[in-house]
Amino acid sequence: MKYFFILGQNPTLSSAEIVSLLSDKTKFLAVSPEALLLLTEKDQDVFDLMARLGGTIKIGTILNAFDDPRPEDIAENIPRVHGKKSYFGFSFYKIDDKLPLKNFQNKTQKIKKMAMAIKDILADTGAAARWVTSKEKNLSSVVVEKNKLLTEAGAELIFLIDEKKTYLGRTLAVQEFENLSFRDYSRPVRSMKVGLLPPKLAKIMINLANIDKSATILDPFLGLGTILGEAALMGYQNLTGSDINPEIIAGAKQNLEWLSKTYNLKLETYNLIESDVRHLGNKLPPRSVDAVITEPYLGPPMQGNETDEMIKKVVEELSALYLAAFREFKKILKSGGKIVIAFPVFHRKNENLFLPIIDEIKKIGFQAADLLPKEFTDFNFLKITKRGSTIYSRPDQKVMREIFIFRH
Ligand SMILES: C[S@@+](CC[C@H](N)C(=O)[O-])C[C@H]1O[C@@H](n2cnc3c(N)ncnc32)[C@H](O)[C@@H]1O
Repeated sequence: MKYFFILGQNPTLSSAEIVSLLSDKTKFLAVSPEALLLLTEKDQDVFDLMARLGGTIKIGTILNAFDDPRPEDIAENIPRVHGKKSYFGFSFYKIDDKLPLKNFQNKTQKIKKMAMAIKDILADTGAAARWVTSKEKNLSSVVVEKNKLLTEAGAELIFLIDEKKTYLGRTLAVQEFENLSFRDYSRPVRSMKVGLLPPKLAKIMINLANIDKSATILDPFLGLGTILGEAALMGYQNLTGSDINPEIIAGAKQNLEWLSKTYNLKLETYNLIESDVRHLGNKLPPRSVDAVITEPYLGPPMQGNETDEMIKKVVEELSALYLAAFREFKKILKSGGKIVIAFPVFHRKNENLFLPIIDEIKKIGFQAADLLPKEFTDFNFLKITKRGSTIYSRPDQKVMREIFIFRH
């Protein structure tokens, strides 16, 4: 079966996450900053995948491919349910990054102009239909969901366009946008001081670890428990969190209990420990953890007007803290264990300052693992740094995150 994935804001992380979950028995057909197309041997449970992925906005199947689609080709894929009005909408994505924008826009306009002809074709067969449009370039997940396009009488048709062909797909699932922001904003304990990891990024980081549901996950900078909470929702049962601050641990506990009640989870085996990460080896048994997944302490909040000296000091302190942490991870990780971690990247004048600790981390015994397979390295919109990481940033953040997977 051929599937398309419409990618979120960061195509590198979104693609890496999909590859990590689906690389077995999957052939990747195309990728662009907007979408990824793949062929799988087995049918996928798209709802399960959608609930699991943090960086994908829509998932659907490819129904057909045309040199130049005609109104009949499109009308044929709009469902008709006896006694019900049909709903259809269009979204257009470039699947070939090299396709000139002008050509893409021409093809898009041509298809949009067919909407009335399509309604007429449906009317001729006795089916009334409504064309759902929006002011945006494409229909958002919210518009798709709220306008019945995911019901049996509706279809969001996706046109994935390259130089030669137009692939026609139908959306089957969209990101659970309401649920994600509900979890982000409604949890009982929130604090801007601790810094809240967006649940979407937490999901991506968990998926990058690519571990079984029976695996033991540790977040040694637990904070308010976003990573452990998202892992619990994905079905992970063996969860350990530690933090230096007992008040923060109490907040994380409250958040996890709220999550467990709200989503009816069986959260029996989570374990929260008070510990400085630098002494974690004394608190947890050796080789007991499959994956460390964490956004560590990122330093004091930045205002943007810090002097070079101040930034240098923070970089030194964090470097020492993380290296001490990696020495502890080495003790408690099982062989083959992984670390998915977000390091801060500071911005100074016109340059980005990365923590200079990769050589030291290698000496401790960890290697940065590839975020994407070799076949993806030719696409220059997929941005992997020379040290094997990728950058995650949001306009509202002063400090960017550098995401790594380490193995030992
Ligand atoms: C950035 S927050 C983690 C946020 C978390 N990922 C979330 O979204 O809820 C960092 C946490 O690290 C903890 N911390 C700072 N220094 C620490 C240390 N040396 N050992 C363990 N935890 C530490 C802080 O108490 C804080 O809760």
